[in-house]
Amino acid sequence: MLQCRMTAKESKETKTAPENFAASFEKIYTANIKREGADKLLEYLKTTDLFTAPASTRFHGNYQGGLIEHCVKVYKRFRCLLECEYGADYLKNPANAETVAIIALLHDICKLNCYKTEMRNVKVKNEWIQKPFFAFDDPLPYGHGEKSVYMISGFMRLTREEAMAINWHMGGFDVRNMDGKYTISGAFAQFPLTLIFHCADLMTSYLDEKIIPLK
Ligand SMILES: [Fe+2]
Ligand SMILES: [Fe+2]
Repeated sequence: MLQCRMTAKESKETKTAPENFAASFEKIYTANIKREGADKLLEYLKTTDLFTAPASTRFHGNYQGGLIEHCVKVYKRFRCLLECEYGADYLKNPANAETVAIIALLHDICKLNCYKTEMRNVKVKNEWIQKPFFAFDDPLPYGHGEKSVYMISGFMRLTREEAMAINWHMGGFDVRNMDGKYTISGAFAQFPLTLIFHCADLMTSYLDEKIIPLK
């Protein structure tokens, strides 16, 4: 049976080791994503809140820097799951290094510039005080995975496999599954990277990232 290279020890380190996620993101991006438009997309990303935004308001990575941490960690999980499924040669088939980096690093760029810090009243020891919290306010309400595909496509072309994996990365949590037409099943069956990336995204969110409890 094939072994995933992320051992229990490495998995624990992924959760706890301090890492400069912004530096890791840029290193992975520039080493692997070379297609036309990639440099302009990276320039654009640096004008956004990519390196400081949370990954969510109250779920995984709900703290400053949570989004960039998520991108890097999901890249590692994705590679690990691909190797488990296809063996050490997985970068020859069915994926390649550029595709893996594009899907993982860019799948959530739909969240850029969407989180604002607001204040709310909280009762502490019978006294009301104001506490900051993250609110979600989307300046480009185009959806989630489909929005990331739209944003990336403004800079560079995606392959069919990449577009599918990014578009459907929320899997069964995507509200578009409510149509009863099982579109996602077709995507999973025809494009295995879509299914594997959804699993990587889910595992990263629940196994590798913190949630700061709201008080
Ligand atoms: Fe997402
Ligand atoms: Fe994600």
